[in-house]
Amino acid sequence: MNKYATPEIVPGVFAIGITDWSRRIFDAISPTPIGTTYNSYLIKGKDKIALIDTNKKGFGEEYFGKIKQLLGNLKVDYIVMNHAEPDHAGLIPKLLSESNARLICTKRGKELAQVLHHVAEDRIDIVKEGDGLNLGGKTLQFIPQPFIHWPETMMTYLVEDKILFSCDFFGSHNTTGLFDDQAEDVITWAKKYYAEIMMPFAKMGRMAMDKIKDLEISMIAPSHGPTYRDPKSIMDEYARWTGEITKEKVLIIYVTMYHSVEKMVHLFAEQLKDEGIEVFLFDLVNSPLGELPYHMVDSRAVVLGTPTVLGGMHPLAIHAANTMKLFKPPFKYGVILNSYGWAKHGLNQGISFLEEMKIEVIDGIGIIGSPSDEDIARIQDAARQLAGKVKSGT
Ligand code: FEO
Repeated sequence: MNKYATPEIVPGVFAIGITDWSRRIFDAISPTPIGTTYNSYLIKGKDKIALIDTNKKGFGEEYFGKIKQLLGNLKVDYIVMNHAEPDHAGLIPKLLSESNARLICTKRGKELAQVLHHVAEDRIDIVKEGDGLNLGGKTLQFIPQPFIHWPETMMTYLVEDKILFSCDFFGSHNTTGLFDDQAEDVITWAKKYYAEIMMPFAKMGRMAMDKIKDLEISMIAPSHGPTYRDPKSIMDEYARWTGEITKEKVLIIYVTMYHSVEKMVHLFAEQLKDEGIEVFLFDLVNSPLGELPYHMVDSRAVVLGTPTVLGGMHPLAIHAANTMKLFKPPFKYGVILNSYGWAKHGLNQGISFLEEMKIEVIDGIGIIGSPSDEDIARIQDAARQLAGKVKSGT
């Protein structure tokens, strides 16, 4: 009886990743309500054995148990480190201590392996674009691509089986199935992951897409979530997301204290809908901030609604603005809606924020207290203007 599941995804390639069922947050910001997986693969060539990535510290017993179940020991020949982040590289030191394995990584990967994982320099082989490694009937080709999360990241292509081990690229915190056709809500989970991890590096994502566009790919095996037996499905989505191809959609992010801003954003949203624009309202008080990036991926415009508090935007709106700056959404147009008692500082700060992000400011409306009939007409007019821009833009 086998104690561990080590599915052979194609002959000679075994999925030996771990499911972290109980993880509930990633990077202390991104919700993982159904946990995540740390994927790793063992490739048996006729002559040599390689691992694609390892696993997170704390999962050693199960992870090493899987390797021992397949090999009888931990003596692998190569550990391909596509990424040095500890969720994938945390068990490298233990494996190196149990074998004569060489660590295969990029030049930046070597630096990080030494600093983060204390790997001795003489155990590391640096690879660059176009380099390969023959395991005997299984040939690995390395495709370095910085910032498909960190600067050292790379993808690895298994030539004979046409499998792309894509690192965090195409990943998802989805624990519902080994393969895409067995898992639930595959694209939704992948979009959430893209938003949190890849959206800030969309340009690098486009470079990665360009590098793999001529590869024959039968399977994409990312470092989190299901393996894609239908690679086209996720590649088509990534072409849109990394290409920053947005929809006729407006994300309205707001915080309200005495319902005045709430009235403003509701009026704005209703008018946008009337104009045929898709709208999503994100209430900063009642929604986890970690869910915000997901709603940014395909929104063409943003509306930020905030009261003035202590000489500026409400602290939650400032927090959201800083989050936007970090995640670099593809917004082209923006509007600020502000309610104040005696000073428009929240409005001014919001407009400065949009300008800083190089978002075209379509309007900024500051009103005292709750909207009057005149204010309502102005808000509806601004919404019509924004709808026109969203429809004319791409
Ligand atoms: Fe899954 Fe960037 O590590």
